[in-house]
Amino acid sequence: MKIGDSAFRTIWCDGDSRVVNVIDQTVLPHRFAIKTLHSATDAALAIRDMTVRGAPLIGAAGAYGLALAMNQDPSDAHLQSAFDQLLVARPTAVNLRWALERMRGHLGPIAPDRRRNAAYAEAAAIADEDVAVCSALGQHGAELIAAAWRRTGRSQPVNVLTHCNAGWLATVDWGTALAPVYKAHRAGVPVHVWVDETRPRNQGASLTAYELGSEGVPHTVVVDNVGGHLMQHGMVDLCIVGTDRTTRTGDVCNKVGTYLKALAAHDNGVPFYVALPASTIDWRMRDGVKEIPIEEREATEVTHMSGETAEGDIATIRVTPKNSPALNYGFDVTPARLVTGLITERGVCAASEAGLLSLFPGEERA
Ligand code: MRU
Repeated sequence: MKIGDSAFRTIWCDGDSRVVNVIDQTVLPHRFAIKTLHSATDAALAIRDMTVRGAPLIGAAGAYGLALAMNQDPSDAHLQSAFDQLLVARPTAVNLRWALERMRGHLGPIAPDRRRNAAYAEAAAIADEDVAVCSALGQHGAELIAAAWRRTGRSQPVNVLTHCNAGWLATVDWGTALAPVYKAHRAGVPVHVWVDETRPRNQGASLTAYELGSEGVPHTVVVDNVGGHLMQHGMVDLCIVGTDRTTRTGDVCNKVGTYLKALAAHDNGVPFYVALPASTIDWRMRDGVKEIPIEEREATEVTHMSGETAEGDIATIRVTPKNSPALNYGFDVTPARLVTGLITERGVCAASEAGLLSLFPGEERA
């Protein structure tokens, strides 16, 4: 995507020095800064502290983390220890395990003295594939937005509600939930996006709003709790969100608060779509509520908020009494029964095992 006149991906390798660059998402929208990763430890830290975040990008960062590890020491022992270190950086997005297992499966049979180049090439392939996959699912999702526009008689913009950031900053490029919005917007379909602010880290208010503004997509930031009201008053035509892990039965785990939006959408007859690359499907899991590990993050993300002061400094302030405890679950699970459809790179399917297998028939026995 473009920032000003320059086109960016969220992660890229500097071919000569072999370091890996990422956009630092902890300081957006106030600063546009690039961070350089030199080692698997740097990559694990960038995932953990959310310099990079969003399920597909976490996967790509894990893959590049293993490439950095192979650049330092391509031995079997180091491949395994870097794998282990990266795998525990964040627990919920299955893309991390998917990318690390793909890298290890590819590199394991290659002799250590030939692993360096192979590791960078495979990480680059994962990143390139993510761009292609997100572009494809965006095309499928854009057709849903165009259909919603036709239903309005082309008289007014389509109102899409989204939660968290599942845009290009959450992937290598394009995004998942926002890719359909970008494709529809570029095709001339008028779209307006309701952007949930997404406490506690405000990925909607900071990242989604930043992306949509940069692309010139009309949008409005709203507090997390207003979605039900908007839906009751016919102000949302469809919801589109991303997912960090999708079970083979179609349950989806996404940023905390997604489930409440799905309940409100169900109650008001608003279509609720989830956009995902196949790398987000965990074919080993059937029951999202019982099986998906939900990340619990520091309470300070709830007790404090950060933003830009009038002087242009980034500052953090406490918003709760000093002695009040806080609890910070990062994700929740939306059961498949509340999901209208899954938007994938192979098309749109029902949120069910049969629906997913109709698009990904190789996974019957998994
Ligand atoms: O905690 P985050 O910011 O990594 O959470 C991101 C989300 O919940 C996204 O919606 C999800 O990763 C889907 S991304 C394309």
